Amino acid sequence: MTPLSITRTLPADATAAALRADVVQGLSRTPKQLPPKWFYDARGSDLFEEITQLPGYYPTRAEREILLTHAGRIAAATGARTLIELGSGSSDKTRHLIGALTGLHSYVPVDVSESALAAAGEALLAEHPGLTVHALVADFEQGIELPGTPGPRLLAFLGGTIGNLLPDERAAFLRTVRALLSPGDALLLGTDLVKDEATLVAAYDDPRGVTAAFNKNVLEVINRELDGDFDPADFDHVALWNAENEWIEMRLRARRDLTVKIPGADLAVAFEAGEDLRTEVSAKFRRARVEKELAHAGLELTHWWTDTADRYALSLSTARA
Ligand code: AVJ
Repeated sequence: MTPLSITRTLPADATAAALRADVVQGLSRTPKQLPPKWFYDARGSDLFEEITQLPGYYPTRAEREILLTHAGRIAAATGARTLIELGSGSSDKTRHLIGALTGLHSYVPVDVSESALAAAGEALLAEHPGLTVHALVADFEQGIELPGTPGPRLLAFLGGTIGNLLPDERAAFLRTVRALLSPGDALLLGTDLVKDEATLVAAYDDPRGVTAAFNKNVLEVINRELDGDFDPADFDHVALWNAENEWIEMRLRARRDLTVKIPGADLAVAFEAGEDLRTEVSAKFRRARVEKELAHAGLELTHWWTDTADRYALSLSTARA
């Protein structure tokens, strides 16, 4: 067995078909909406990276602080021999954790981007020559099959990305996670926390317009992949706090009446001036809700760590028998 293997479970054309289906569904309904996963082509990933450096976007720094402070405790509590990371990207956040997990045998990064997985895998092996890396090119929402690596397993889902799932999708996702684990295995979950509205909105609407460019990038993705004729200048970036659902919404608001042609999806879409296309939900959490949703999926919360400013939480939970 070579130390780095990459297994692709996504057919090469699966992404295009999934985008087309989401565009047809999401732009034909009222109100219009698209799933946030389509932000992340190469440019979108770069823009997100830039967002994480913005003064107002605190989640990435808060999570790093928690990981740095508590990596040793996470290692001691789990004794993990296999670390699985969903949405691993560059595996940057995971570095400290991998360093702290002294008995670690295998790292299983899972991402839709094969290039990110290959680069991250090489870099990690240079630092940890004894480690086995089984990278999986997969969309974890479609279900994944894990390699037969030794337990106990620790599955990490970081960055607050679980907040991008709607409540039903979140429940289904947590059940899928539980099904991947054996009793005693653990889930390390990053969740952004409910806080004052001004801080939340500022994290999603920066004065330099980086988040606006990130939001509008989904239109560029549709233009490129489905031959659309969106003009991003026809839309305003909107970030608002939905207090009832306790989530941030990003929207693109049409500045005038317009019609967009998307031949690759066989679609002509009319927008009225002021009409919104919802491009992202980013849910914010309280401990009680995280604990309840985990319990509902068969996961028992054992640890809850926050940053010093109480903005963000990492929770550790254990799969029940
Ligand atoms: C990467 C999904 C956690 O929801 O905060 C950043 C994405 N959207 N700014 C988030 C995002 C707007 C981010 N996640």
